[in-house]
Amino acid sequence: MALYRGGCPLPEASRAPKTRNVDAWVAFGLAVALLLIAILAYDLLQRRHAILRNFPLVGHLRYILEAFGPELRQYIVTSNQDERPFNRDQRRWVYASAKREDNHFGFGTSQDVEHTANYLIVKQSAFPLPRPRPGEDTIPCAKVVGAARGRRQAFRPASVVNLSAMSYGALSARATEACNRGCALAGSLHNTGEGGVSRYHRHGADLVYQIGTGYFGCRDRHGRFDLPRLVEAVSGAPVRAIEIKLSQGAKPGIGGMLPGAKVTPEIAEARGVPVGQDCISPSAHTAFSDPDGLLDLVEKIADATGLPVGIKSAVGDLGFWYELTALMKTTSRGVDFVTIDGGEGGTGAAPLVFADHVALPFKIAMSKVYPIFVDAGLHESVTFVGAGKLGFPETALLGFALGCDMVNVAREAMMAIGCVQAQRCQTGRCPAGVATQSGWLARGLDPDLKGRRLANYLHTLRREILELTRACGVPHPSLVTADMFEILDGRFGSVSGAEVFGYDPSWGLPSAADATQIAQIMSAASTRSDVGAAA
Ligand SMILES: Cc1cc2nc3c(=O)[nH]c(=O)nc-3n(C[C@H](O)[C@H](O)[C@H](O)COP(=O)(O)O)c2cc1C
Ligand code: SF4
Repeated sequence: MALYRGGCPLPEASRAPKTRNVDAWVAFGLAVALLLIAILAYDLLQRRHAILRNFPLVGHLRYILEAFGPELRQYIVTSNQDERPFNRDQRRWVYASAKREDNHFGFGTSQDVEHTANYLIVKQSAFPLPRPRPGEDTIPCAKVVGAARGRRQAFRPASVVNLSAMSYGALSARATEACNRGCALAGSLHNTGEGGVSRYHRHGADLVYQIGTGYFGCRDRHGRFDLPRLVEAVSGAPVRAIEIKLSQGAKPGIGGMLPGAKVTPEIAEARGVPVGQDCISPSAHTAFSDPDGLLDLVEKIADATGLPVGIKSAVGDLGFWYELTALMKTTSRGVDFVTIDGGEGGTGAAPLVFADHVALPFKIAMSKVYPIFVDAGLHESVTFVGAGKLGFPETALLGFALGCDMVNVAREAMMAIGCVQAQRCQTGRCPAGVATQSGWLARGLDPDLKGRRLANYLHTLRREILELTRACGVPHPSLVTADMFEILDGRFGSVSGAEVFGYDPSWGLPSAADATQIAQIMSAASTRSDVGAAA
């Protein structure tokens, strides 16, 4: 067909390049479309990245920004330490550890060490112990939980790092399963949170059964605590200990609520509540109303189940702790473990003022409660557990120095299974499928793969805790003391951890007998890993 311009046919030479240009653009457009379709198909079918599965194509932006973030941030505002609750360096360390990628950082610290107040320094020994062998990260608890009170099922936890309470309901079914699988692989305990035991908690890990104010999984039809139901619930699952939750750092004193829309038949079954109705945890317990009643309940549960029984609490009014320890000292009752949750701790949803302004942060909370147990002579017979951003080697080690025998991790574990700190947990629209009950969003989370990632993170955290411990010249983190830390004041001054927290040199340590025993256990474990490494 002839083409005309001003009535004259166009010469061949002027027409061909234009047609070729159009053809080229069409071909290019087709190629781009095909590429996008291929990426879309890959994103939808792959199982490694929940974000890509849930948000095909668009989700790549997250990875591109993550990859080029360091370069971009040289020109744009935020630094690697600016974000909260977890800064970019911390998140990168968790993600890399979970994926078993290189988690080292190059070129030296990017922290403003000299000008940052309360900056934590671990004081290495002039005579450190040998660095752990590759794969060596066994750190059992220095205390046998429940032994001091003769509980029938007292036990020594195999790992000093365990999964903190997060309910099925706050987390998706797949996230709960991933947590359980990860804990099973890493030999860590999985705390159920106050939402009871579900089938997603039965993938191999030992459990800590948490009892909250709603008594989910162990309540009668009026919502009151029901001991026979508790006995039934724990006997049908691998429960090793029971934790009575008094409060949680992010929202102490107000309980909580799972909206009816999220109460699916499976959640309702685990909790023993009606489907589709708001599931309320009141502010306070109804089974007791003071420390005396609490201790009665602890003994009743321990007698009926044989399990160690402890409490979890954020720290506000100290009167409770004085009264509790006085009763433990003067009567034959007592808690087997105490979990201290810092006010900086996480939650699925909380009013801002409670998250920001109620309950002491972990370091202050722990260093106020532990001396009360010391004064009562009870610190060696109670196992202490800490929580509140302790999922990093240096913060965990300070927790041990302040008297913790174990640390619990929650949000760091969430990051290991894909949380990107979008901070939308309360909306139910978690893009990573972690904190949601939407089947569509959760389908991107592969419990098997993410379980392995959680295990990798737990192994790495334990290993780095062990490396720091040995750099301090002792074989177990429970033997690290507060004077092995120095706290910088941001004005070229520094004070030892012992002085900052008012700790006596012997505080934070297990009994002499426990210390000897754990040193022997660590030496045997190290020898075994020597053999493994040589093989
Ligand atoms: C999504 C979510 C759900 C939680 N659910 C519970 C719970 O059911 N019971 C509880 O005692 N603490 C709960 N917590 C608090 C954690 O167990 C933990 O104490 C707190 O987040 C501090 O640990 P972290 O700083 O490692 O996150 C929850 C935290 C998160 C993030
Ligand atoms: S909503 Fe955001 S912060 Fe909450 S679990 Fe999901 S990714 Fe993490």
